Amino acid sequence: MRLVLVGPPGAGKGTQAEFIAAHFAIPKISTGDIFRANVSGGTELGRLAKKYMDAGDLVPDEVTNAMVNDRLKQDDALAGFLLDGFPRNVAQAYELDSMLAQTESSLSVVLDLDVDHDEVVRRLSGRRTCKNCGHVWHVEYDKPKGEGVCDKCGGELYQRDDDHADTVRHRLEVYAAQTAPLIEFYGERSQLVAINALGTVEDVTERAISALTPFAD
Ligand code: AP5
Ligand code: ZN
Repeated sequence: MRLVLVGPPGAGKGTQAEFIAAHFAIPKISTGDIFRANVSGGTELGRLAKKYMDAGDLVPDEVTNAMVNDRLKQDDALAGFLLDGFPRNVAQAYELDSMLAQTESSLSVVLDLDVDHDEVVRRLSGRRTCKNCGHVWHVEYDKPKGEGVCDKCGGELYQRDDDHADTVRHRLEVYAAQTAPLIEFYGERSQLVAINALGTVEDVTERAISALTPFAD
């Protein structure tokens, strides 16, 4: 399965990506996670990406496309993958077509997580991420047992720099202007499946897996 997840910031893409990728036994490739790993590792790519990420803007296409192209060439991604956070605009979608054409493959399906504006703001403002394993928690909806500590690995939890109110507002504008057009783009190609992403994490996972199962080979 070659799968793309789309949806606004805070829709639950990263949360669902873990479960969906495990269910279909495909690697999860999250451009946001790769950029954040580069930022904390102090790499050249991280230094470049950080200023865009902190502002809530997209990292330039040529940088992002090259990074994804390299990742898709790794062995584990040849038989299938889940892309979380890429493509993020129509130009990146065309670029993804070209990357897949190199291996004579194509996308199986694009899953759109549909959530209203107020809910994404609630989800983002309460999000906490584990510094160690990257697992995503929420202070109300998905609380770890000990405050500020990851249940999975004991790592310290932090709030992402781009989850402060002003940046969230800007990220939502960037989503509406640049990423939302992908829904029409993939819809016209009959590659889009949308699910309601309100409800518990488990409910949404169940909806996602049943919507995607017909596309698994
Ligand atoms: P990225 O990391 O991709 O951020 P995003 O798209 O804004 O998405 P988020 O990670 O904020 O949200 P999510 O949908 O994954 O939600 P989550 O599961 O965490 O990108 C960050 C930046 O990197 C970009 O701004 C850009 O600068 C750069 N970048 C990345 N890709 C790029 C690209 N292709 N091109 C250019 N630049 C790029 O859930 C949110 C919260 O809600 C969590 O706390 C979670 O616990 C909670 N939650 C989840 N599901 C539920 C539920 N069902 N009920 C209640 N709470 C829930
Ligand atoms: Zn952890």
